[in-house]
Amino acid sequence: MPLLRHADLQPYNTFGIAAKAEALARFATADELRGLLAAPELSAMQRLVLGGGSNILFTRDFDGLVLLNEVPGITVVREDEDHVEVRAGAGVVWHHLVMHCVAQGWGGLENLSLIPGKVGAAPMQNIGAYGVEIKDSFVSLEALRLADGEVVNFGLSECAFGYRESFFKREGRDRFIILSVNFRLTKRAHRIRTDYGNIADELARQYITQPTIKDVSDAVIAIRSSKLPDPAVLGNAGSFFKNPVVESTVAERIKVANPSAPVYSAGPGHSKLAAGWLIEQCGWKGKRLGHCGVHEKQALVLVNHGGATGAEIWDLSDQVLRSVRERFGVELEREVNVV
Ligand code: FAD
Ligand code: EPU
Repeated sequence: MPLLRHADLQPYNTFGIAAKAEALARFATADELRGLLAAPELSAMQRLVLGGGSNILFTRDFDGLVLLNEVPGITVVREDEDHVEVRAGAGVVWHHLVMHCVAQGWGGLENLSLIPGKVGAAPMQNIGAYGVEIKDSFVSLEALRLADGEVVNFGLSECAFGYRESFFKREGRDRFIILSVNFRLTKRAHRIRTDYGNIADELARQYITQPTIKDVSDAVIAIRSSKLPDPAVLGNAGSFFKNPVVESTVAERIKVANPSAPVYSAGPGHSKLAAGWLIEQCGWKGKRLGHCGVHEKQALVLVNHGGATGAEIWDLSDQVLRSVRERFGVELEREVNVV
């Protein structure tokens, strides 16, 4: 694709926010990326790499170069009777990778079915759902270091994965472009995880007692489709906030006053609260403010009802954050990346 100037970013973010980029280009190999970074008219610009644009909020135009990651390919790096190591290009659509693995009978990613976006962004926040995070199957990744164009390999510990966190979201932000990710998956003796949320209920509803990885994937897809809005229909970026991790004494105080409050353990002395529950208790669920609002089925998801600006969504998130602070004394942190 030729370089686009003053490019419209609306098709490239699932919130559907109208914003412009000074320049926009696609790359499918490390060499194409190096070529773009070195081009005299582009080399001084700030850069932003995008996959599916499903975890980003544009509150302004981006005065720089947007790089659309289209690095393709799913290949087997090595395998034995029990395991397979798979390398996926960063431009592969995440759900396509999951569907490919499920179809091959490779276990490990099935609980992460239907998460939007591309493979390259998955390590950024260690994507997770239904009791599984990518760190559980992650082996390594390759990323291009913007400072010198070198391709660097990162192992598990170097990625510093945490809950919706990684090195790339913190110290490594804007310094590396992830090109491929390797996962180690099971070929047999799969670890079937049905203990989280209502996966077991969904399987029981279908009279499935010995679920396969395909059954788990189907159940996750059914649950997600019933409560998360499809960005093609209603602009959103999934959970806008993280579930807050607080000292257990804080969670106990909330639980005593509100026995129905969901509380999960989060290591010694700490508990995780459900941000969706906190936001719903503050009366936000289904509320609409101008062009944006809080989703009617999942209060953790902010939505663009059409024509919202990023600034409007930011202001709504600020109001939500303040009311949770005032009512519960709990500080929410935004999950979405804000430009
Ligand atoms: P983008 O939005 O394009 O980018 C996100 C950030 O990563 C940006 O800062 C970008 O610069 C950076 N980035 C992108 N690609 C690269 C790269 N190759 N190298 C370095 N940095 C990069 N997330 C979950 O964890 N669990 C869920 O269950 C979940 N459900 C969702 C449901 C819906 C309906 C939606 C809309 C979103 C959901 N998300 C969920 C959030 C989102 O899908 C994930 O964060 C996803 O990994 C984002 O991928 P992307 O390619 O769209 O990233
Ligand atoms: N809840 C409410 N009201 C709401 C929403 C949720 O009371 O409006 C309660 C639910 O009843 C449940 C609890 O909160 O008791 C948790 O809800 P849910 O299972 O829907 O999950 P979540 O904590 O809201 C997290 C992730 C999702 C992930 C799901 C499933 C975060 C920030 N969000 O949501 O990830 O898909 O669990 O594992 O951790 C994302 O990161 O974008 C995302 C969608």
